[in-house]
Amino acid sequence: MSESKGKIAVLTSGGDAPGMNAAVRAVVRTGIARGYEVYGVRRGYNGILNKEIQLMTFHDVSEKLQHGGTFLFTARSAEFGKDEGKQKAAKICKELGIDALIVIGGDGSFKGARDLSKYGVNVIGLPGTIDLDIAYTEYTIGFDTAVNTAMEAIDRLRETSNSHERCSVVEVMGRSAGYIALWCGIANGAEQILIPEKFDNNYDKLIAQIKENREAGMTHQVIVNAEGIGHSHELAEKIEAATGIETRATVIGHLQRGGSPTARDRVNASVMGAYAVDTIERGLKNRLIGYKDGHVYDVDIDEAFAMKKSIDDYEYEVASILGTRCDYLK
Ligand code: F6P
Repeated sequence: MSESKGKIAVLTSGGDAPGMNAAVRAVVRTGIARGYEVYGVRRGYNGILNKEIQLMTFHDVSEKLQHGGTFLFTARSAEFGKDEGKQKAAKICKELGIDALIVIGGDGSFKGARDLSKYGVNVIGLPGTIDLDIAYTEYTIGFDTAVNTAMEAIDRLRETSNSHERCSVVEVMGRSAGYIALWCGIANGAEQILIPEKFDNNYDKLIAQIKENREAGMTHQVIVNAEGIGHSHELAEKIEAATGIETRATVIGHLQRGGSPTARDRVNASVMGAYAVDTIERGLKNRLIGYKDGHVYDVDIDEAFAMKKSIDDYEYEVASILGTRCDYLK
């Protein structure tokens, strides 16, 4: 057997996201195909600190592609959050002879990766988060599945809401970003979409609009509320008290984080996983992998952190136009 080209380690960190397994599988298999030893790190950065690191084979990643979650487990590590923890992790990576560490996670995990890079570890990041809140990339692993899961749930809610002629406030995840809410708002034809990037906190206006919709003949209404705004149960009570329309709140919560990844999440995660290995092959260091203009690409980690992202104004406008049905009903 020919000598290995080097050691690549891969971990998943932060909130799990459907498609992470597909990404790990792609890293392991592409790494082996390109002549590297690939190590799986369990439980995120904690796995480096505790040396939970295991050489992976081609077969270790069989039957993983179609499953949500992450078979490597994930964690938000308090020890790694401290500077001493990062220095210790960097030292362990060096001792173990790891040439590159592939981190699959969200913004917080990437901050950790960037800090590690300052201590001499070559880090390559794959965006794994349902929130889509990473500036340098137009796609993140898990977003598509999470949106589809939430969309199906909201379709169901609309049916019962319709039958009872109620208002439904439905809260979707996204931390402080409104991407899931905006997408569900459009995909579910929500009458109102409340996202932190746009909502002006004018609850009187919101309630007046709900009343107006009802007076115009709208029997039921769906209000998609982003986690970043939250307080869905209080909002439902407020709406009911002010309008007299029976209102229920549903928080979809972690249900939208599990489940078998969609084809898009499987394919993009696989392509990005392979591309991460090939970025190492090209001799590059400290890069984040993402999608730009529909194509996979890589960018310097510091440059990526300087980028800003915001909700697409046109998508938001479209959502508002399509949700405001009262004008047509009058
Ligand atoms: O970042 C993914 C995410 O699901 C967010 O949408 C949410 O705010 C957070 O993680 C929830 O975190 P936890 O699973 O630790 O409660």
